[in-house]
Amino acid sequence: MKRIALLGATGSIGRQAIEVIDAHPGLELVAATSGSTTIDGLAPLTQVGGDPTELLERAEPDVVLNAVVGFAGLVPTMWALEGGVTLALANKESLVAAGELALAAHARGGGELIPVDSEHSALFQCARLGEPESLVLTASGGPFRGRTSDDLADVTPDEALAHPTWSMGPKITIDSATLANKGLEVIEAHFLFRVPYDRIEVLIHPPSVVHGLVRFRDGAAIAHLGHPDMRVPISYALTYPERAPTPVPPLDLTARPLEFREPDTDTFAMLALAREAGERGGTYPCAYNAANEVAVQRFLDGRIGFLDIAPLVEEVLDRVDGSPARDPAELVEADRRARDLVAVA
Ligand SMILES: NC(=O)c1ccc[n+]([C@@H]2O[C@H](COP(=O)([O-])OP(=O)(O)OC[C@H]3O[C@@H](n4cnc5c(N)ncnc54)[C@H](OP(=O)(O)O)[C@@H]3O)[C@@H](O)[C@H]2O)c1
Repeated sequence: MKRIALLGATGSIGRQAIEVIDAHPGLELVAATSGSTTIDGLAPLTQVGGDPTELLERAEPDVVLNAVVGFAGLVPTMWALEGGVTLALANKESLVAAGELALAAHARGGGELIPVDSEHSALFQCARLGEPESLVLTASGGPFRGRTSDDLADVTPDEALAHPTWSMGPKITIDSATLANKGLEVIEAHFLFRVPYDRIEVLIHPPSVVHGLVRFRDGAAIAHLGHPDMRVPISYALTYPERAPTPVPPLDLTARPLEFREPDTDTFAMLALAREAGERGGTYPCAYNAANEVAVQRFLDGRIGFLDIAPLVEEVLDRVDGSPARDPAELVEADRRARDLVAVA
């Protein structure tokens, strides 16, 4: 029996994780948290809001599934990595922000780090076949694929929330519309697979069937294909290194052509800004993430337009001191400073 602690149990990933756990006799939900939604009775140990460290210590999980949204997921990520507890990571923001700090904790703890993001789960599985030379991350392109800046000037939060392929929480759905999600994923891939940024490619792939592709030095490329259904990467991470059955049907390869094209990084500047933050290193990725979180919330609240998100983040990146954080406290401080800069931008 694998004991699972699920952080962010009420969200899109959290609810699908509960479905996966309920369907698998070898998985047991021992602890669950949410940000503010009541979750009484969902697991033997539950907590709403606050620091989950004590709950995790008491729960003694075999796997921590971090499905919290945003930088708030930092504590469980660092707890699991430092303690050598298997981390099934959906909360990409914590790895993007913590970067080298997280990797150092992972090296000290010695546990498994298994990505839940569908693209990184795909790359993780492909990368088990050899040393990656370069990576290809696919992107659906979101609801505004093919649009120009002129088309996007007046789009509303409701339009941005209407994702064509995936049904997800609001923050990641807006990130998919701006391509910030793919930007965060480029940084996440850099840290997970230790591949330099210039060898991480992004391609727009509207059917969302090829989730990721790894190129090897002999010229071979291995891709991972599947229905766009998060229960598959969640199940993979929770049952790793085994593969449990899921209710997801086999893929019909004749159903749609597998088209790919280059992203438009002029219109969707958040992708280029993420690469820039990643290349600069230090706490620039942390600042990128923090500024984006605040900007997305402002857009959802109707306080700024869709096209204001990237310039706000760019301005914060221009103004922060991106020197590396030596410990999580310094990282929290870097995150706070970036958020404060959005407030005055
Ligand atoms: N959804 C997807 O298909 C998908 C795919 C790949 C990766 N991801 C990643 O998975 C993570 C979760 O995404 P999601 O779409 O599931 O988000 P979501 O639906 O918005 O759910 C977020 C979860 O986090 C909890 N939460 C919010 N603030 C918190 C805080 N301060 N402390 C503790 N818990 C807090 C929420 O609790 P309340 O309900 O109480 O607010 C909720 O359970 C994100 O990092 C996202 O990028 C998601």
